[in-house]
Amino acid sequence: MTNTRTLIRLIKYLGLLQVFLLSVIVILTYFTRTSPIPHNSGLGRSRIRWKKPTLAVSDILKRHQDNAFPKNCNDGHCSLPTEKLQLKKKRRPLKAMSKAELRQTLDDNVAGVLSFPPLSKTSQEKSPFVILTATNSNFSSIMDNWLESIRRLRVRYNVTLMSEDDETFSYFSKRSNSEFKVLSTSALTLPGRLHFRIPTYQQLIRKRTVYIFALLSSGRDVLLADIDAVWKKDPMHLIFDEYEKHDMWIAQGKEDHFPCPCFFYMKSIPRVIDLVVEWVQLVAFSNKTLTDQNALALLLESPSLNVDVKYLSYEQFPLGSQYFNQSWHEKYANGVYVVHGNHLGRGSGKIEMFKNHNLWYLDRNS
Ligand SMILES: *[C@@H]1O[C@H](CO)[C@@H](O)[C@H](O)[C@H]1NC(C)=O
Ligand SMILES: *[C@@H]1O[C@H](CO)[C@@H](O)[C@H](O)[C@H]1NC(C)=O
Ligand SMILES: *[C@@H]1O[C@H](CO)[C@@H](O)[C@H](O)[C@H]1NC(C)=O
Ligand SMILES: *[C@@H]1O[C@H](CO)[C@@H](O)[C@H](O)[C@H]1NC(C)=O
Repeated sequence: MTNTRTLIRLIKYLGLLQVFLLSVIVILTYFTRTSPIPHNSGLGRSRIRWKKPTLAVSDILKRHQDNAFPKNCNDGHCSLPTEKLQLKKKRRPLKAMSKAELRQTLDDNVAGVLSFPPLSKTSQEKSPFVILTATNSNFSSIMDNWLESIRRLRVRYNVTLMSEDDETFSYFSKRSNSEFKVLSTSALTLPGRLHFRIPTYQQLIRKRTVYIFALLSSGRDVLLADIDAVWKKDPMHLIFDEYEKHDMWIAQGKEDHFPCPCFFYMKSIPRVIDLVVEWVQLVAFSNKTLTDQNALALLLESPSLNVDVKYLSYEQFPLGSQYFNQSWHEKYANGVYVVHGNHLGRGSGKIEMFKNHNLWYLDRNS
């Protein structure tokens, strides 16, 4: 009798426990549903909040009065095609630097920590070029994979890696040689918003604008390469075959003629260097925090732009959403040079997607 009652009570409690656990699961699912990509997927976004892309750019656009970009404006609010970076903390208003002051700061870096051996070449010769990459420890496996993708092509290009933390520096510098240079970026003097040492991928790619300046100033052309843009074929002949015709070659982003600084070749010539200084200025001092991509897009749309830009085709430099789309893939995959692992959605991991498409060349997972 007592045993039966205990049993019934036990069953009742178990039932209650089940209901309780279910509620906890439901609540947890609700609150984690919009959380960032899982830790291992290769995107360290935990410190930044991504919002729908609406951005008041009127203060920046003052510089380009008759500018047609961005196109979708409504009451002074314009939507940009890419996501906007929002910093959590309120920052004090920045004291903007004039272009001349900024140039001086950048030149000081180039004379100091970012100095590259000067080159002796006649003005007739084509400048040598360097592939510029950057990573921190969160992305070192993706960097490894990228290195492996160009190793497999058996090309011998000079690669400079900017390592954003000590761990990354000690990991990659063991393998450095005359063609693979590994630099630590901790000693740089960074202007304006670039100064905040925010360890996120967004900040990392924004700082690349300064590295580009340093390399271009040393007389080297720069190919900026995202480490999640895997090389399937050697793309350099596409540029060198028409080297005389243009100043810059840029892969396209979500929209036609919207730059993707994932694959981006710049000649070391004064008008390109000047554009890069303006790019740094916008990234560092605009009142709204701009991504490197949005800032560059604004500059490229400026009517006063005097740099000749060639946009690379989607068929050869597709977006992730194209390459990983089955119908697109079946039609164009054979002609693809570089696959950018962007726009892979929030749920599915980049690495997993690379693996499924034979673009992951490492054995280990992370
Ligand atoms: C790496 O990612 C984690 C979580 O995504 C983040 O908290 C951390 O700040 C990142 N570290 C760096 C060096 O970016
Ligand atoms: C940023 O805002 C401040 C104060 O609101 C203003 O004085 C300054 O001119 C603005 N800077 C730019 C680049 O528009
Ligand atoms: C790489 O850099 C070295 C100097 O460090 C230079 O001699 C060589 O020609 C460069 N290679 C290419 C392919 O640009
Ligand atoms: C895949 O691409 C085709 C056209 O190439 C398009 O019609 C389709 O909507 C795309 N699918 C997805 C899921 O984006």
